Amino acid sequence: MTEHIQYSAEKDALILLDQRYLPNREDWFECKTTDDICFALVVMVVRGAPAIGVTAAYGCYLAGREVQGMDGDWKANLEKKLDQIHDARPTAVNLRWAVREMRRIWKEAGDVSLEELLSIWLERAKVIHVDDIKMCEMIGKFGGELMDDGDTIMTHCNAGALATAGYGTALGVVRGAIDQGKKVSVIANETRPFLQGARLTAYELHKDGIPVKVACDNACALLMKRGLVDKVVVGADRITANGDAVNKIGTFGVAVLAERFGIPFYVAAPQYTIDIETPTGDDVPIEDRDPKEVTHIGDHRIPPEGVEVYNLAFDPTPNELIAGIITEKGVLYPPYTESIKKLFEEE
Ligand code: MRU
Repeated sequence: MTEHIQYSAEKDALILLDQRYLPNREDWFECKTTDDICFALVVMVVRGAPAIGVTAAYGCYLAGREVQGMDGDWKANLEKKLDQIHDARPTAVNLRWAVREMRRIWKEAGDVSLEELLSIWLERAKVIHVDDIKMCEMIGKFGGELMDDGDTIMTHCNAGALATAGYGTALGVVRGAIDQGKKVSVIANETRPFLQGARLTAYELHKDGIPVKVACDNACALLMKRGLVDKVVVGADRITANGDAVNKIGTFGVAVLAERFGIPFYVAAPQYTIDIETPTGDDVPIEDRDPKEVTHIGDHRIPPEGVEVYNLAFDPTPNELIAGIITEKGVLYPPYTESIKKLFEEE
């Protein structure tokens, strides 16, 4: 996979592969300002919880650069821009984590100049970027061990290289299984309305020569009933203290069906996706996106003019439906309240 998040020192900009147009066009989107970063996050030039986190980390650095040219108190100006990035999307905890992390190291650095802060932040953003790939590879290793030779793995949305800095979480598990010599294939649920499965999961797996078939979201029950799905592995935007996993809308339904047909349902995510400050999935803000994503296919409106739609972008899957949470530190098993607590105590 092409590196889809690139910091260019020459341009002093973040260059993103524009996921709105994949797989048909490989366009690049250049971010130089806070507005560019927030636009990229909101319209989903870049998406997927860890990729959002990495982008936000570089975004804080770019916000600092922008503030350099502004009148007034640079600290107050910068705080406002960090708030803007922090609030770009509400559900993925990784966005808040990245902004908090930049604020933490600012505080830790003490009374530094803006120039000094910028160099500290750029280095930190690069480390967050590289670490994300390493975490995904570890998730792949632990998750790969749970997969069997010959498995067909269903996934929902895109939790792959495109949703992270590289390698992927759920798709990292697929890659990990393959690296361990297992022959596995993937069913990518289409994932209405943004079609992360049909467009992005299919794009990156096909590009890497990993067998993938796309299925309509509503084919899930029949595919499972026919024995065509051995495991389900999905990513998460936020895992709460009790192990509920908030992920792309439709994930909850897939988990309910997996339980009905006795298929193990796994969630793959780095530890920093676990938000121990939020008790349950029902406490997580669910992003309500532009209705046009649902009403329109291209420029063509599907429901009659004047008919309203739902476009809730995520849903919480209750922990009792989850067979294991695969992190870079190992696999967590129920009861999650305890295994999650233990993971954080071990830090
Ligand atoms: O709206 P998106 O495309 O940002 O939603 C992405 C997902 O739901 C992913 O499954 C999740 O962020 C995990 S990415 C490793």
